[in-house]
Amino acid sequence: MTYKSIEVRKLAGALGAEIKGVDLARDLDNATFDDIHQAFLDHQVIFFRDQTLTPDQHKRFARRFGTLNIHPYVRGMDGHPEVMEIIKEPGDRLNFGGGWHSDMSFLEKPSIGSLLYALEVPEWGGDTLFASMVAAYEALSPGLKKTLEGLNAIHSASREYSASGASAAKRQSMAIAEAEGEVGEFIHPVVKVHPETGRKALYVNPAFTMKFEGWSTRESKPLLDYLFNHARYEGFTCRFRWEKGSLAFWDNRAVWHFALNDYPGQRRHMRRVTVDAA
Ligand code: SIN
Repeated sequence: MTYKSIEVRKLAGALGAEIKGVDLARDLDNATFDDIHQAFLDHQVIFFRDQTLTPDQHKRFARRFGTLNIHPYVRGMDGHPEVMEIIKEPGDRLNFGGGWHSDMSFLEKPSIGSLLYALEVPEWGGDTLFASMVAAYEALSPGLKKTLEGLNAIHSASREYSASGASAAKRQSMAIAEAEGEVGEFIHPVVKVHPETGRKALYVNPAFTMKFEGWSTRESKPLLDYLFNHARYEGFTCRFRWEKGSLAFWDNRAVWHFALNDYPGQRRHMRRVTVDAA
């Protein structure tokens, strides 16, 4: 693929590319935006370095891709409800996003993508891993692909955000609210056809997928575990080393991600904006 307005350097075999020659703080012309959009579709996750973004500039770039999400459980910044502060303080033990997942798959209309911007990064550690669910799907046998194409799965935020959920222990540093009342469940196809590229991707993840529709939890577990193990094979992944001013933009329809928690005693401060599906 050739791009006219940006430089694109591929990072790994399955997914990921670094984009050069763009200042995201500016109101981008259509040609540059179209190239970035194409690179996002081609590479599933794209990375920018050396950016300086206010919350308004972060939101303006994200809005070029669609409406911004207001997270149902994580309170946004004052005056910017669409901007989540992801902070791990030196004394915190747990981190946000420290397990493989696809953002917001627990919503009725899951998101298009998330744009994560680094304000303060640890001296070492704190990388984010990404895994291509397109590569994971394509590597399955024809028989399993056929079985999965007939299945739907139930997604819910309950394991993460209910009163006893995994996020409870992270509430001190981050503005994470406990889900009130019943946490909704939504059904999505296990094989998602990407609305823009037409490519198929596995659409289940360990954080939010509860079971297959019409199957019990016990019946679902062996096949889900098989898929979760298969999908995190190293050959489907890439890894991003953050610097202050880096921005990653990943496609939640095609990618899982995992925030590594390997920097005890150090501070990490990011801002995330998520784009809703149309
Ligand atoms: C997230 O899951 O959105 C957080 C990723 C990160 O902090 O690296």
